[in-house]
Amino acid sequence: MTAEAPNTTGADAVPIFLRDCWYMATHASNIRRGGLRREMLLGEPVLIGRMRDGTAFALRDICPHRGVPLSAGRVLAENTVECPYHGWRFRADGVCALIPSLVDGQQMDASNISVRSYRVREQDGLIWIYMSAVGREAAEARTEPPKVGVPNARPRWVESQTFACGIDHAVIGLMDPAHAPYVHGRWWWRVQPKVKTKHYAPLPNGFVMTRHQPSKPMYGLLGGDVSTEITFELPSTRFENIRGTWAGRQVDVVGLTTCTPRDAETTEVTQTFYWPAWLSFIKPFFMALGPTFLGDDRKIVELQKEGLKFNPSLMLIQDSDVPAMWYHRLKKAWAESVRTGTPFVNPVQEKTLRWRS
Ligand code: FES
Ligand SMILES: [Fe+2]
Repeated sequence: MTAEAPNTTGADAVPIFLRDCWYMATHASNIRRGGLRREMLLGEPVLIGRMRDGTAFALRDICPHRGVPLSAGRVLAENTVECPYHGWRFRADGVCALIPSLVDGQQMDASNISVRSYRVREQDGLIWIYMSAVGREAAEARTEPPKVGVPNARPRWVESQTFACGIDHAVIGLMDPAHAPYVHGRWWWRVQPKVKTKHYAPLPNGFVMTRHQPSKPMYGLLGGDVSTEITFELPSTRFENIRGTWAGRQVDVVGLTTCTPRDAETTEVTQTFYWPAWLSFIKPFFMALGPTFLGDDRKIVELQKEGLKFNPSLMLIQDSDVPAMWYHRLKKAWAESVRTGTPFVNPVQEKTLRWRS
């Protein structure tokens, strides 16, 4: 048996949150034109908003004047955010556009003042925010946000739950194959555990469980010849790309699971599904079962917290915990590359894993 524990002490300790990467902050539909929303992201208060012209933006949600949350202000017709305290106005790039209290003869250039702005990408119906390393806010993004690989991807079903755990336990729960019969088992859904053999290969920032025929009966919804591929990429994105045929047509269903660290102890887990419009009759199935399954995962980490309070040492074993070991190694390698400014080298090697679940 091999046991491996994450590195949490010493000079090269892996930080809780990875920097220089994209996090899914919220669904695009949550932010209407002129709307402002406060979200915690990696322990920082972030204002996510949309200007009147439709541009999505993100600013540190602390007015540089006297600290009032800008999210409590409003968006003006000229595409600025007005602070509710003294009316200072900020553009989407964070630069101050106006200080109303100034009068003629007072030499102060408002544009020398700014609030931190974050790089934002709106794609596939999601708002991604780039959390750069301290001091590197102005540098080019190292990566692109993850892309849903189907044409005109529109979210068809979304379920979001807040997990009372840090990012690592939330992510490991996503890739842990051995918990399913215990955590998700139901009298009407009890699958006899079987030996599974799955092939894995590295991806640029993670790894993939290569395309295979899934064993769970629910995949039968997508007709015959169903296959699936599951990817994980840093910091916390899992894609399941399911392909089947329905009435002679090829159909792709993509399930995207993102873990958004709100703070060190709280992680929002969001599942977003994409499928072609004509397939929408499968939606009731997701509505009926989706919250239950995600809720199972949420409840088990709440229970786990009862043990983690006592700071026990934990184990990762062969082969069922190998994806979790890879996650820790990937995270360490990424943190190292951010710290030293060197290119990221993926430590994952191609491998076939076997376990019973
Ligand atoms: S606190 Fe924001 S304008 Fe004064
Ligand atoms: Fe689960």
